[in-house]
Amino acid sequence: MQNFDYYNPTHIVFGKDRLTELDDLVPKETKVFILYGGGSVKKFKTLEKIIQALPGRQIVEFGGIEPNPRFTTLVKAVEIAKAEKVGFLLAVGGGSVMDGTKFVSLASCYDGDAKDLLAHGFSPVPVKKAIPIGTVVTLPATGSEMNSGAVISHDGGKFPVFSPLAFPKFSILDPTLTYTLPSVQVANGIIDTFIHTVEQYVTYPLEGRFQDRTAEGILRTLIEVGQKTIDNPTDYDARANLVWCATNALNGLIGAGVPQDWTTHMIGHELTAMFGIDHGQTLAILQPSIWTVRKRQKREKLLQYAQRVWDITAGDEDSRIDQAIEKTRAFFQSLGVSTQLGSYGVTHDKIDDIIKALERHGLTALSETGDLTLDISRKILEDAMGTTTS
Ligand code: NZQ
Ligand code: ZN
Repeated sequence: MQNFDYYNPTHIVFGKDRLTELDDLVPKETKVFILYGGGSVKKFKTLEKIIQALPGRQIVEFGGIEPNPRFTTLVKAVEIAKAEKVGFLLAVGGGSVMDGTKFVSLASCYDGDAKDLLAHGFSPVPVKKAIPIGTVVTLPATGSEMNSGAVISHDGGKFPVFSPLAFPKFSILDPTLTYTLPSVQVANGIIDTFIHTVEQYVTYPLEGRFQDRTAEGILRTLIEVGQKTIDNPTDYDARANLVWCATNALNGLIGAGVPQDWTTHMIGHELTAMFGIDHGQTLAILQPSIWTVRKRQKREKLLQYAQRVWDITAGDEDSRIDQAIEKTRAFFQSLGVSTQLGSYGVTHDKIDDIIKALERHGLTALSETGDLTLDISRKILEDAMGTTTS
């Protein structure tokens, strides 16, 4: 196991009917800035309940944070945060709203051009303070509710923004607030959680036994509850398990001390930026092809994954790996998500543009060992293109 630091200060408030506790969670005597997305929180009355739970507070609102939140939208919220001198930010929504709110929190305390904050990759941004934030999660997927990262879209790219100051002070995870999600978003959330887990698990063995067993537990839970929570959105226990898996897949726990390979996310971000494909869908498209192309490098962990996650024990090693990749693809498809790039309207001639975008964004040495070149990314995209339009 590698050396690591593990720090996670977010207070999780999990369960039904916990919005009423907001009055105790949000600091008193400060102006509260509530940020949300395109309107689902109004339509389904979550915002109304939140405002009722904060009686007598000075509240400012900002709606309209879009999926894959844009820098140009968020700087408008930064202006309001500064002008109104707000003291606490409350994000109400999915990953896009939480990420957007993290950006507002950091950018509001940054003296330079806010665009600079997009240029630091996975290193912390040079911000010494931030406006504290809390979240009310309405979509289980990203883990943003318990981590210190955000992904911001700008000028044809998606840029990570990290800071230890961006951890939410608290996050309310009430699974019932997610019942109104369309099934496509639930499927996206299951796949996002699945991929966050395998990107910290299917690398090479390093005796991270607790991390491996925990990752396998998350994956097996997703396989058990995935279809159930899509078919029966109001089955509390199925949804509660999805919500808690999503948070734990990306709160630093399973990735501590083990190698990580974020190739799927990095190439996936280009597909979202260029073609508007949902984040979860890009991951379903790419993961089976990445494993097909990288079988040799990931051999031992793919065999472990085949056995411990899918109970595959029959056949020689190559066949067990192939079966595991096919089971994974079939799982994503069973949730209603196509795993072929071609079926999202992207044609073969666009591969050159995707490779150019990866190059422009410096994503030329991906993987757990940094050996994944643009030529290998091209092979992955060719494999992911698929042959049918289903
Ligand atoms: O905008 P509204 O009207 O609220 O509708 C949203 C949006 O259209 C809707 N929705 C959310 N909760 C709902 C609901 N509809 C009905 N009922 C509810 N309870 O769902 C749509 C998608 O929301 P979005 O927040 O975009 O989805 P998600 O949570 O999947 O977030 C995706 C973003 O997170 C980033 C992605 O890159 C993408 O920008 N990620 C952030 C990460 C992080 N901070 O750690 C890691 C991830 O890998 C990911 O990259
Ligand atoms: Zn993700």
